[in-house]
Amino acid sequence: MIIQGLMNKLTRLSLMGFLLFAADASQPAKAQVKEAKKREDTGMRNQSLIERGRYIVEGVAMCERCHTPRDEHGNPERTNWLQGGPVQTEPTYPAPTWATREPRIAGTPPGTDAEFITLMTTGISRTGRPPNPPMPPFRMTRADAEAVLAYLKSLHH
Ligand code: HEC
Repeated sequence: MIIQGLMNKLTRLSLMGFLLFAADASQPAKAQVKEAKKREDTGMRNQSLIERGRYIVEGVAMCERCHTPRDEHGNPERTNWLQGGPVQTEPTYPAPTWATREPRIAGTPPGTDAEFITLMTTGISRTGRPPNPPMPPFRMTRADAEAVLAYLKSLHH
């Protein structure tokens, strides 16, 4: 009887000890899982932002038609994607301010992030005026402009 009681007590004690230990050990593990999950969420958010930006650039605004040199068939060169170069279209109307170069926009587009967002959302460039034609005056939402910027930044140059 006494032995049995002692054994019970011992079992309880060691069980408690184990639980305490387990609770303690699982703290950092839980924090790690949470941290990894957060990183994954942020990664996924960035990834979908970049994908959205790619869709706007390639599927809607077609930035590459001007900002990428063309091959002999007139198609934008994938190897020089959004790297800029001499302007490739002629005006069909008298346009004294027609630009002569399209800047590289892959990697880091000209100006600050804020200036880029302003350009995409209002059509006004860092000069305080619209860029020269044929750069179109875009009126994107801020979310779309941020997605475009995320995509451009994701490209190496
Ligand atoms: C129809 C041709 C055309 C298209 C399409 C076009 N661009 Fe441009 N872009 C230009 C030209 C030309 C310039 C140079 C304008 C100048 O020199 O004032 C320019 C300039 C810029 C600049 C530099 C502005 C500055 O502050 O110097 C950025 C950034 C830019 N474009 C981004 C884009 C993005 C992003 C897209 C697609 C969403 C796009 N462009 C689509 C022709 C185009």
